Amino acid sequence: MTLLSVENLKKYYYSGVFNKKEIRAVDGVDLEIKSGRTLGLVGGSGCGKTTVARTILRLVKPTDGSIVFDGRDITKLKGRQMKNLGREMQIIFQNPETSLNPRMKMYDAILEPLRIHKLCSADEENEKIHRLIEIVNLNKELLFRYPHELSGGQLQRVVIARILSLNPKFIVADEATSMLDPLVQAQILNLMKDLQEKLGISYLFISHDMDVVEWMSDEIAVMDKGKIVDWK
Ligand SMILES: Nc1ncnc2c1ncn2[C@@H]1O[C@H](COP(=O)(O)OP(=O)(O)OP(=O)(O)O)[C@@H](O)[C@H]1O
Ligand SMILES: [Mg+2]
Repeated sequence: MTLLSVENLKKYYYSGVFNKKEIRAVDGVDLEIKSGRTLGLVGGSGCGKTTVARTILRLVKPTDGSIVFDGRDITKLKGRQMKNLGREMQIIFQNPETSLNPRMKMYDAILEPLRIHKLCSADEENEKIHRLIEIVNLNKELLFRYPHELSGGQLQRVVIARILSLNPKFIVADEATSMLDPLVQAQILNLMKDLQEKLGISYLFISHDMDVVEWMSDEIAVMDKGKIVDWK
């Protein structure tokens, strides 16, 4: 079953005096991701990978094209509908620190999305958090520490636990493991595969590392200058 279908997606930016300079960051992209599957997205720096992801997640507004997610056209959603969509689609960035508040202990960081969306009562929180750290295999001793006291791999596990609290169907990983050393990187990639198997999550997996993309993906789209130029 198709979870995400993108047609003729475009995102143009304008810069310079009088906004006359046009940057075609994404210029007519079509792609499809099935439930429980991974689409890899590769291509040189600046070819538009992150912009594709940000546009699909509606973090930026598309210039043109359509995005259908789980049977709904999400191209023009607004306000409250966007907030609900934000539960189903999530993103993991390269640097976990950008997703975590340096003054918040891991316990609160993991529960924050549930609290924001009011999805869990105070007495359910403890049980919920223990289930989440078990899924991502995070030591409970780390729950009362701050981000600077954790390693890169541990932080990425916290970020994943946070995301999973909302039961997403679709996760974008944008160079999510590129900063980690190879052993830790392999552990996080294995965790992502495990989660896919157990929870049926679909991924858009963006990376410069072709070996990693090949290992993670069912299909691979190759981008160049805002367009998809090849499929593997
Ligand atoms: N907010 C913005 N305003 C203007 N131009 C932008 C903006 N965001 C991205 N761009 C431009 O759009 C193009 C695509 O950028 P994007 O970040 O999507 O590439 P990328 O494939 O993710 O690159 P990398 O592999 O380095 O992460 C680049 O030319 C970039 O400079
Ligand atoms: Mg990028």
